[in-house]
Order: sequence, then structure tokens, then C-alpha cells
Amino acid sequence: MPFLFESVLVTGSSRGFGFEMVRQLANLSYPPKYIFATCRSPGGETAKELKNFASDHSNVTIISLDTSSKESIQKSALLVKEKLGNDGLDLVINNAGIKTESPSFLDETEEDMMRVFKTNVVGPFQVIQAYHSLSATAGQKKGFAAILNFSSILGPCEKSNFGGLYPYVISKAGMNRMTKGLSFELIRDNIITMCICPCWVKTAMGGLDKGILTPQESVGYIMKIIQSMDKSKNGAFYNYTGDINPY
Ligand SMILES: NC(=O)c1ccc[n+]([C@@H]2O[C@H](COP(=O)([O-])OP(=O)(O)OC[C@H]3O[C@@H](n4cnc5c(N)ncnc54)[C@H](OP(=O)(O)O)[C@@H]3O)[C@@H](O)[C@H]2O)c1
Repeated sequence: MPFLFESVLVTGSSRGFGFEMVRQLANLSYPPKYIFATCRSPGGETAKELKNFASDHSNVTIISLDTSSKESIQKSALLVKEKLGNDGLDLVINNAGIKTESPSFLDETEEDMMRVFKTNVVGPFQVIQAYHSLSATAGQKKGFAAILNFSSILGPCEKSNFGGLYPYVISKAGMNRMTKGLSFELIRDNIITMCICPCWVKTAMGGLDKGILTPQESVGYIMKIIQSMDKSKNGAFYNYTGDINPY
């Protein structure tokens, strides 16, 4: 069965979850025509594996995108538009994110809080703004386009049972509220907006020797959720299992 979306953009695809997403998309039997694998340093050491992979997959285009820089986000959108021509962008995956850790709430700094908030919330919001016209074109031509934001079950308050990781958990709570709000506005342009928790995954962020799932397993689950997207899913906060999480 062909993949639901012909064009997909992934932020933070140099490693971890984002790279695995690009890898599994490109290796589908009927892969998307365009996979925009964005990362903040395409020429850097961290993007080496992605570069090697892209050299064997002509539908993977690496594009520079730093979610903490509005200028970089806007530049990336121009490059993607150039490549897509009159086609819109079917799916935007806001995956890039950072986490900081401090011994206690007294050690949390303004600098860390602002950096995490900028990268994890303001940046993804600006990505959605910068790509809006491309998403809306796809929404109009194909019935619907989609935005998938990477959140975490650590964000919502309802099931929270621990303190700590303040910059990160506050940023994910913000991302959830942003997703819910945008789901009401963007649906007018046939764009559905959802967020998802990929589980505790063995990456640099999750802990390579910790975590419950490997990136391969987690992305495997999420690919099924992506493939089942339709307008009825607009505004949902998904768990990797396909269940709906509380906001
Ligand atoms: N791992 C988990 O257990 C877990 C659980 C719940 C949610 N998540 C979410 O899943 C997403 C991916 O996490 P991960 O586990 O794959 O983390 P990761 O292994 O630490 O990878 C993070 C990715 O984000 C990129 N990134 C960081 N800052 C960026 C910026 N300013 N602009 C663009 N890219 C940037 C990194 O690029 P560089 O190589 O340039 O640093 C890297 O590609 C995050 O949003 C995270 O919050 C993860």
C-alpha cells in the first residue's frame, strides 16, 4: 500500500528518533516522493550517518534547519518550496527537541529554561508558521495535510507524579497546548494537527542504555499511526500504542 503522504519534512533528523523516521520512510516499499531530512548542522559530525544514508536515497534531501533560529526556519521553507514547485507539503514532523537536567529546581537557570522553550516550543511553532502556505496547498489539493508534534507523556499534568526536569516538561506541556489550539485554526485550511509521545526511547535524550523501546520499534509503531491519519484524528494527543493520551 502506498504511504499516505507524498512529501514529508522531519526536523532534527541527524540522529535519534528523527534519523530513524527518515530511514524507515525511505525504506518503505512505496516511499514518499520527497523526504526533507532537516538538521541544524548538515556539514557537522552528527549528520554523517544521515548524509551517507541520503547519498543512497534520491528522495531524501538534507536541509539546514535550526529550530532555535527563525531565520534558519524561514530559509529552509524557501528551499523546500523551490524543490516542491506547485505541490504542497503533506506532512510536517516537529521532532527536534532538547532536554536539560538539574539536581534540584533551585539549580534551574533562566538560560536553560529559555533555550529549551525556544527550541522545543517557539521553534516548532515557527516551523508551522513558515510552512503554513505549503501545508495549506497540500490540504487543498489532497483533502488534508498534517502536522505531527513530538511531545511527551511527561508534559500533561493529569497523570504527573514527579517533580524535576522543569524546562523540558514545561516545554512539552506548552507544545501540547499549542497543538490543541492550532488544531482548531488550521483545520480551516484542511490541515490536521496532532501530537504524539513516542514512549521512553533508547536515544541520546532517553538514555542509550535506558528506555523501553529502541528507536526502530518506536518509529515502527508511529508509522502505523501516521498511515491511519485522517481528519477525525485532528487535535489528538496520541500515545505510540495508538491510544489517546490525556492533555
Ligand atoms: N527519547 C525519548 O525517550 C523521548 C520520549 C518522549 C519524547 N521524546 C521526544 O522525541 C523527540 C526526539 O528525541 P530523541 O530521543 O530522538 O532525542 P535525541 O536523540 O537527543 O535527538 C534530538 C535531535 O534533535 C536535534 N536538535 C536539537 N536541537 C535542535 C535545534 N535547535 N534545531 C534542530 N534540531 C535540533 C538534534 O540534532 P543535533 O544532532 O544537531 O544535536 C537531534 O537530531 C524530541 O522532541 C523529544 O522530546 C523523546
